[in-house]
Parts: sequence; C-alpha cells; structure tokens
Amino acid sequence: MKKSLTESASFIASALPPHFHPKVAIILGSGLCAITDGMDILATLPYSTIPHFPISTVDSHRGALVLGYIGDTAVAVMQGRFHYYEGYSAEEVVFPLRVVQQLGASILLLTNACGGLNPLFRACDIMLIDDHINLQWENPLISRDERHRFPDMSTPYSSRLQSIAEQCALRQALTLRKGTYLAVTGPNYETRAELRFMRTIGADAVGMSSVPETLAARSLSMEVLGLSLITNECRPDAPRHVSHEEVLTTAVRAEQNLKKLVFSILEES
Ligand code: HPA
Repeated sequence: MKKSLTESASFIASALPPHFHPKVAIILGSGLCAITDGMDILATLPYSTIPHFPISTVDSHRGALVLGYIGDTAVAVMQGRFHYYEGYSAEEVVFPLRVVQQLGASILLLTNACGGLNPLFRACDIMLIDDHINLQWENPLISRDERHRFPDMSTPYSSRLQSIAEQCALRQALTLRKGTYLAVTGPNYETRAELRFMRTIGADAVGMSSVPETLAARSLSMEVLGLSLITNECRPDAPRHVSHEEVLTTAVRAEQNLKKLVFSILEES
C-alpha cells in the first residue's frame, strides 16, 4: 500500500512543474464536472494512466485527475470518485485521496449528489454537510496500519471552512442549507420505510458516497468541507420514482451555482 501510494504520487509529480503542490483536493460527484472548466490546467491525467489507480465505472464520472489552479489556489480535482457499489474495497475507494494528500493537499472539498430528506429542502438546493451518519457498514480505516486508527469525529467538517462557505453564499444571495448527510452503499435508492428511519435518526440528506473520503481525510488531519447538491426530494409519505437520469439532469442544472460557490470559497480558504 505504502509502495503503491509512493509510485502513484511520483508518477503524478513527474507530470507537473517541481514547485507545484496542490493545497486543496476537490472530489466531484455525479454530474458535477463543470468546476474544471474555469481552471488554469497544468495536467489532466486519466485514471487509467496513473499506476495503481482504480478506474471509474460510472458513466457520469469522467475519470481523470486534473491539476492546476483555480484563481491562486493550487488544486487537484478528481473528476469522478469511486464507490463501494462499483465493487471496490474500502481501501480502493480512498486510494486517490491518499495520493493527493501525499502530494501536499491539506484541505478536502467534497461534492456529491444526494436525496433531500429534510422536508424544507428542494431539488437544486445546496447543503453544507455539518455532520454525517455512516450506514455503509464499511470503513476505509480498517487496516493493519496503526496510523489510521482512532481519529476524532466530534467535528469532522471544518467549522472554519463552513463559515467561509456561509459568507460566500450570503454574498451570492444563494440559499445554503445545512445538515447531516447519511451514507448508504447503494446502488438501489431507498424504500419508504428506510427513508422514514433515516429521517427519524436525524438525517437531512442521503447519498452513496463522501463518508469514506471524510474518514480517510480526518485520519490524515486534513480539513474537510462537504457540499451536497440535492437532486431529488425523498418523501416517504408522498413517494415518487427516483432515477439516475433525473439525478444527473438536476445535478447539471444546478452545477453552475455550485461552481460559483466553490470558486469563491477557494479564494478565501
Ligand atoms: N438516495 C441515495 N443516493 C442518492 C439519491 C437518493 O435519493 N439521490 C442522489 N443520490
């Protein structure tokens, strides 16, 4: 594991100018690829070209690591992430993040598409992740490597970065929701009974990602900011069909707002 991390990191570093070290790792969720459009790109490395990287099997995830600058901030953007539902192990899901941390990143900015459980939330809203519930029953920190053990999770999402995000949203007159993200493995969407249960235990949104990366990032002492795009409203009492196509269409519809918010947060982080 340590050897493959070093080999991946050295390969990526060899494609970059020697002075370049990403400060922020950005992970883009389903249908959320526009963030790289306004970037000053130094290198785009398809995952398939990087030694030891898994390969994204989800159509809406482009599967490339894009390195460069957004404004003055050095970033490494993962266009596409890995999920348990693709059959990857916990270790494989967080491997690219560990590599980017090794390249120098100290901040993780996560984005994802998710279902809104809070009845006040509407499709296209953006939610700041304030806390999470891990119902994936998987954990990328389970390993023989003692260094990954016992990270504190009392405040996994940085309050410093959350206040920056809130101030940026206010300036843009953008409604920013705040709440608890609940992670399941998927790949099925939830039953009505599951949605009722999730709401009862305090979740505001449900999705199939992000928590493994937060766990790995916190164990590496990275600061984490999570932004969830609500793509569909989950109402156990007024159930309606959810489809992957609907999730993607809504993500694409709302991604310019998310992009604007991310760019302004990076200016201040
Ligand atoms: N449930 C789980 N994951 C999701 C959903 C949902 O309703 N929408 C987008 N990702």
